[in-house]
Amino acid sequence: MPSLKNQPELTSTPEYAALQKHYASIEGTHLRELFGADATRGEKFTAEGAGLFLDFSKNRITSETLGLLVKLAEARGLRDAIEAMFSGEKINLTEGRAVLHTALRAARDSSVVVDGKNVVPDVHEVLDRMNAFADSVRSGAFTGHTGKKIKTLVNIGIGGSDLGPLMAYEALKHYSDRGVRVRYVSNVDATDFAENTWDLELEETLFIVCSKTFTTLETLANAELAKKLIVDRFGTVDAVAKHFVAVSTNAEAVGAFGIDTKNMFGFWDWVGGRYSVESAIGLSLVIAIGPAGFADFLAGFRAMDEHFKSAPFEKNLPVLLGLLGVWYNNFFGAQSHAVLPYDQYLRRFAAYLQQLDMESNGKRVTRAGAPVAYETGPIIWGEPGTNGQHAFYQLIHQGTKLIPCDFIGFSQSLNPLETGGAAMHDLLMANYFAQTEALAFGKTDAEVRAEGTKEDLVQHRVFEGNRPTNSLLIEKLTPHALGALVALYEHKVFVQGIVWDLNSFDQWGVELGKVLAKKITPELSGAKKSLGHDSSTNALIARYRKQRGLD
Ligand code: F6P
Repeated sequence: MPSLKNQPELTSTPEYAALQKHYASIEGTHLRELFGADATRGEKFTAEGAGLFLDFSKNRITSETLGLLVKLAEARGLRDAIEAMFSGEKINLTEGRAVLHTALRAARDSSVVVDGKNVVPDVHEVLDRMNAFADSVRSGAFTGHTGKKIKTLVNIGIGGSDLGPLMAYEALKHYSDRGVRVRYVSNVDATDFAENTWDLELEETLFIVCSKTFTTLETLANAELAKKLIVDRFGTVDAVAKHFVAVSTNAEAVGAFGIDTKNMFGFWDWVGGRYSVESAIGLSLVIAIGPAGFADFLAGFRAMDEHFKSAPFEKNLPVLLGLLGVWYNNFFGAQSHAVLPYDQYLRRFAAYLQQLDMESNGKRVTRAGAPVAYETGPIIWGEPGTNGQHAFYQLIHQGTKLIPCDFIGFSQSLNPLETGGAAMHDLLMANYFAQTEALAFGKTDAEVRAEGTKEDLVQHRVFEGNRPTNSLLIEKLTPHALGALVALYEHKVFVQGIVWDLNSFDQWGVELGKVLAKKITPELSGAKKSLGHDSSTNALIARYRKQRGLD
């Protein structure tokens, strides 16, 4: 296999050249032609794994395209790269770390060795502690300072220490103990803290401070506010032990903050923040849905891991999604990718994927540090259907940009209500099916005219079609299905990172803004200082200070 450190330049490989040539021959082909030429297309281009069904027939591909994409993946050493990740090789080269979120869901009796040590027993030791703690909170055995049962959890964290548990809590709310609600505070904008805490019954509140590094400004600032609330309310720092737990890899910083490390749940530097929802970072979720629900969630990840490791690339869900993304990103020039869940419980799914995908593959140099000569990670965005249909779908249908979409739907509703004799869920899913059909096939000039449309409106009412979509159809939104879905996207991002020769596991791009903010903070208060920024930044700071009444 080409070494992970020493990949040949992507666009100069014969596999890439073959795809370029093929693209020129297929670019003008319409999905109407592809479906017209093969009545079995809707069955042929499908795959199934870990309980998820994928129909990828409404993509601008042929069997030849698929074959060429798979060849590219093979030439990039994907099979060995998967093995390298799962076996704990230090593939996060810039940080010298293994990438082992998959060990977080490994079966208790399995073995994953990092630096000569099997890490699976450690994973399960933390998991057991999380489960025992969750049970004690849920049962009321664990109480606040005054002996009251905990009824509200406030998760304080940002990025991966917020988006994962928040998305999963929202997604699995149906399975949650409604006697314990969870709130998520992330932003350093005090509004987030204020609006989430003004009505709290502090005797019944537990703060979970989540931070991998325990150095993140936003999280520490919010945690300080929370600590003050508790100490002021109960008049003693002793109350902190009954109202705070921490989740971190940094025991020293947790202790320095004033949280007893007995009340800390750990994880490891080989878990990236955006890959950490199934680590102790998911503590709020374990408490909300219970240990059995969380075990089912992890089993879903594990099932997708197995599928990813073993399914042939042509039938491998993460490989297919990854390669189709490469096809549009690098050959069709698509700039973005929409994720459209037809399930209100998945309303934060796109936000979660934004970090997972864009922080992983928003990179401009290869693993060896050379600037890339091709497009890397797309802009990920989306909203649940049908809301999005009444907002931005217009552009997807008739705009000038090509936006490949993933539609995610479930056959069974968790809230099977009826309205006017119709199942609400059928109304929802009819829209899911209708949209992918409309995007693929559109409405021709002739069809519009045949409807008797006035001449001056004909072009406005034509739908070009040929807009590619993936359809994920899942039986029911369960913890297992959500785990499999998240793992699907984790591995999709991995596949693309391998093809593009990126380190998907660092995030140096977030540093510069943090450093500059630290420098600017003291300039925003106190006596006037001479500002050494550019003229725009200087003027903005001056105006800000003036409007704050400082100068
Ligand atoms: O600044 C980006 C980032 O490092 C993310 O990668 C991470 O998920 C987030 O900040 C929060 O980091 P931590 O969990 O260490 O507080």
